[in-house]
Amino acid sequence: MVKKYVFGTPFETEAVVEAVEASKNLISFGNVTATKEGFSFEYTMEPTDVVYGLGQANRGINKRGYIYVSNCADDPNHTEEKVSLYGAHNFIVIDGIKCKKGLFFDYPGKLEFDIGYTKRDVLKVSCERADLYVYEIDGESAYDIVKQFRKIIGKSYIPPKFAFGFGQSRWGYRTQEDFEKVVDTYRANEIPMDMLYLDIDYMESYKDFTIDKKRIPDFKAFVEKMKAKNIHLIPIIDAGVKIEDGYEVYEEGKEKGYFCKREDGSDFVAAVWPGWTHFTDVMNPEARDWFGKKYAFLIEQGIDGFWNDMNEPAIFYTEEGVAALNEAIVEYAAQLTGTSDKPLEPCDDIMNTANVLPAKIRSIMGSLQNNPEDYKRFYHNVNGKKVRHDLIHNLYGFNMTRAAGEAFEKIAPDKDILLFSRSSYIGMHRYGGIWTGDNQSWWSHILLNLKMMPSLNMCGFLYIGADLGGFGSNATRELVLRWLALGVFTPLMRNHAALGTREQECYQFEDIEDFKHVIEVRYRLIPYLYSEYMKAATQDDLYFKPLGFVYPEDKIAVQTEDQLMIGNEIMIAPVYTQNAIGRGVYLPEEMKLVKFMPDGSLYEEIMPKGYHFVEVALNEVPLFIRKGKCIPLAKAAQSTAELDWDNLEFVGYDDAEYKHY
Ligand code: GLC
Repeated sequence: MVKKYVFGTPFETEAVVEAVEASKNLISFGNVTATKEGFSFEYTMEPTDVVYGLGQANRGINKRGYIYVSNCADDPNHTEEKVSLYGAHNFIVIDGIKCKKGLFFDYPGKLEFDIGYTKRDVLKVSCERADLYVYEIDGESAYDIVKQFRKIIGKSYIPPKFAFGFGQSRWGYRTQEDFEKVVDTYRANEIPMDMLYLDIDYMESYKDFTIDKKRIPDFKAFVEKMKAKNIHLIPIIDAGVKIEDGYEVYEEGKEKGYFCKREDGSDFVAAVWPGWTHFTDVMNPEARDWFGKKYAFLIEQGIDGFWNDMNEPAIFYTEEGVAALNEAIVEYAAQLTGTSDKPLEPCDDIMNTANVLPAKIRSIMGSLQNNPEDYKRFYHNVNGKKVRHDLIHNLYGFNMTRAAGEAFEKIAPDKDILLFSRSSYIGMHRYGGIWTGDNQSWWSHILLNLKMMPSLNMCGFLYIGADLGGFGSNATRELVLRWLALGVFTPLMRNHAALGTREQECYQFEDIEDFKHVIEVRYRLIPYLYSEYMKAATQDDLYFKPLGFVYPEDKIAVQTEDQLMIGNEIMIAPVYTQNAIGRGVYLPEEMKLVKFMPDGSLYEEIMPKGYHFVEVALNEVPLFIRKGKCIPLAKAAQSTAELDWDNLEFVGYDDAEYKHY
């Protein structure tokens, strides 16, 4: 049962699509304070309560014991203490003996979840303005609550089939030659592949909806050439529109008044990759429609997939920030030359050259990027009403992606288009997927990737995945292989890396056949993974489940966070530590271990419920089939187009039957 409570004058985020009548009562548990000073909800947790949810958030599947702030952030350093990542997914489930409740705080500004951080037993959700909807969901179990929530937020996005193949990406491929080399080397080594991603360098001076003709002289012909090899090119689209005379998108947007404005009505200016840019006001339906239709430029040239980036929106610096810095530098110069009456501020640490500049200058420099003050400097036009950006900050990525999704239905209604975004809010799951942003080539980030998956599913995001091999830092052969073995199971399977890092395409390392094998396992599993994805998407279900959702009575299963259930048949337990010959695995019931061996054979062993140490070599991919079940397997193929869906074999328990979507 879902109840809806209205506080103040909420902003219509359009996260929820099913009509839920507003309740006149108060939230049935906990304490609510809603005043001019803000909103807070407090609940005293029982010692055994587990708290699920929050989608793209740091740390574990059970969110208890830390603080999380919904405030979409362009922060590439996902260390353990971070409280905000790229998405804002304000849904939690309290799963206890006395209390089983789902709560969705539909509030598009900054919202804090203190889940036993300040006080170990107190769950406190708070925000600065008491203008929001709160949805309370009762159910038999956490799983049941999640399914009810998923129902009210609408069906999840379904990508085209090719999006279940493997994709290669790297920030740094610049020319057609660079791109073709990647594809040719994959094909020459017979490593399956379906997608090649185009990062910002395919554009002319990082201008959206342009092609750098010097680097790719005939884009349409290039797209066709790749299609003939069963490769889909997936270009990036950034949020900022470059300010440049003669650039059509800029000139048109300016003339029509479609960019976000400052209080005085002038267009807000922020620097991102292209230098000075404007942000399209994607909260204005007309501007959203206009921006979305711009994707036609690429679709008309054969493109059928996009990744939307920098849409928190990320800001490197603004005109206001630079002006403040200038002023401080001019003042400092005057102090140095003795023309200022203000005394020269002493440097606290003259031995450290980084600290030679006065604290004031250092502080301004340090706060130029993604400065919260800048997010208060621009406004959206929401159906004629001026709304300050910071109050609805978490909706920008959602609506940029919605712009594209809505436009695709108009400009290419018969085409299935791949679409995913970096920033998101619940509701965006209807238009696209997400990737989890700029992670690092760290072992801990394999585990973070794993743990984030079911939480994202709870919030509607099904087409998801992390940058396999890690975006920042230098990857190693072992790390990439282990990470790919997890990526085999994530709907979005993409290897992506940052400019300047060690090259990590599968062919850069020794014994390429090991990589070929791991990716072939993905292709063998596509009929199963796709079918389970479709079931989840059409039935408001989870593709990834925490063990506790399937075995709620099993205390060990409930607290096992480094294994996941996928679909209805399998459990995965990826290796995420260096120099491991295998790992400990907990089986909540008897299961059949299946290992995909490098020679193409399957190792099968029925294992009883309980703890096991399972050996997993670097070139093996393990999974566990639940008792009495089986899964379909295809023959490996070089691309999804070449997969033979009609001749599948089955692995699992004898006499088991698999129900295809
Ligand atoms: C951002 C994206 C990353 C991309 C880079 C350059 O950091 O998150 O994926 O490679 O920008 O476009």
